[in-house]
Amino acid sequence: MNFNPYQIADGVFYVGVNDRQKALFENMIPLPNGVSYNSYLIVDEKVVLIDTVEAGYSEQFLRQIKEAAGGRPVDYVIIDHMESDHSSSLSALIREFPEIRIVGNSKTIGMIEGYYGITEGFYEVADGDTLAIGKRLLQFYFTPMVHWPEVMMTYNVTDKILFSADAFGCFGTLDGAVMDVQLLLDKYWNEMYRYYANIIGKYGSAVQQAFKKLSNLSIEMIASTHGPVWTGERLSKVMGIYDQLSRYEGQEGVVVVYGSMYGHTEAMAEAVARGVIEGGMTNVVLHDVSKSHPADILADIFKYSGLVIGAPTYCNGLYPEIAALLDKIAVRSVKNRVFGAFGSFTWAGTTIKNLSAFAEKMGWNLVGTVEQKQALSAENYKALLELGKSMCLSIKQLTKN
Ligand code: FEO
Repeated sequence: MNFNPYQIADGVFYVGVNDRQKALFENMIPLPNGVSYNSYLIVDEKVVLIDTVEAGYSEQFLRQIKEAAGGRPVDYVIIDHMESDHSSSLSALIREFPEIRIVGNSKTIGMIEGYYGITEGFYEVADGDTLAIGKRLLQFYFTPMVHWPEVMMTYNVTDKILFSADAFGCFGTLDGAVMDVQLLLDKYWNEMYRYYANIIGKYGSAVQQAFKKLSNLSIEMIASTHGPVWTGERLSKVMGIYDQLSRYEGQEGVVVVYGSMYGHTEAMAEAVARGVIEGGMTNVVLHDVSKSHPADILADIFKYSGLVIGAPTYCNGLYPEIAALLDKIAVRSVKNRVFGAFGSFTWAGTTIKNLSAFAEKMGWNLVGTVEQKQALSAENYKALLELGKSMCLSIKQLTKN
């Protein structure tokens, strides 16, 4: 099959693939809109590939490379990121182009040896090194922990394209095009929150370090490893989303997450949500922890600055589904949340004690708590409305400061 090579700039081709079959990214995160594994080929005096794709797509990937390169061999493959979705076609690539040089830093090279048993053909680069490939100059910027320790970005100095590895990426396949201007972008914005929260979430300070490092670059195009190639006014939107999320600065809004076995805790959640609305805030999202996938809940927790969690007491401890969610929040070290808690119990309540301890561990501002024995009372209904309103006040205060 021939394909029409997709150019993102003169001599710069997209050779990545769409994965519409994988159900769970990292075997955890649902992919309702699929995912793309992006790879780029620069055809200059040297032919240079940036990252590869997941091994299951090697055949398609190699075919695309050969067509984009017009049959020329690939001289260099730059490995910006070693996670398997970007590096596992490396062995197939080397079989096809045995003379290829593998460009990476010392950490990358160690991982290539460890994962693929490849021990030669390396071209090691240091932070800030450049590589002349003909008309174009490439420069390497190490950005460790966005999302693994070996991660670097490749800046095409000549065309002002930043190949940014996972940074600025999102879930969602590329349907018929690659450039943002040719795509219907609606689905990608939510997918960017889901991607950031679940994949990059823990590494906010590393993302901030990367922003500092890249601050003097003139960037006209961002070509990440997942999702559309960003240009024009979308550049500032995408960078703005990553900047806000990596500072753990949520938008004004409240996420109410609850577990409920018989509806009593759910009634409490409804009352909090109503209180938030009465407090003058319209961004309220309710998640039943037993129905919403944790990946979606985490995306909303990163998106909004307010979080209220409620649960019934269960076996003298936290409702297990809520406890599992707390683990996922803690793993990502989510900071700066304005927090409220509520709980219900039949004979002895422990939820508030547990959720308060969690808030303290996370360093969050605990605005208030409400605990209900058995069915929701009129008095506690009012207290929950007040909790919602107090959340609004605290969030607005936070936004002002
Ligand atoms: Fe898409 Fe961290 O790999």
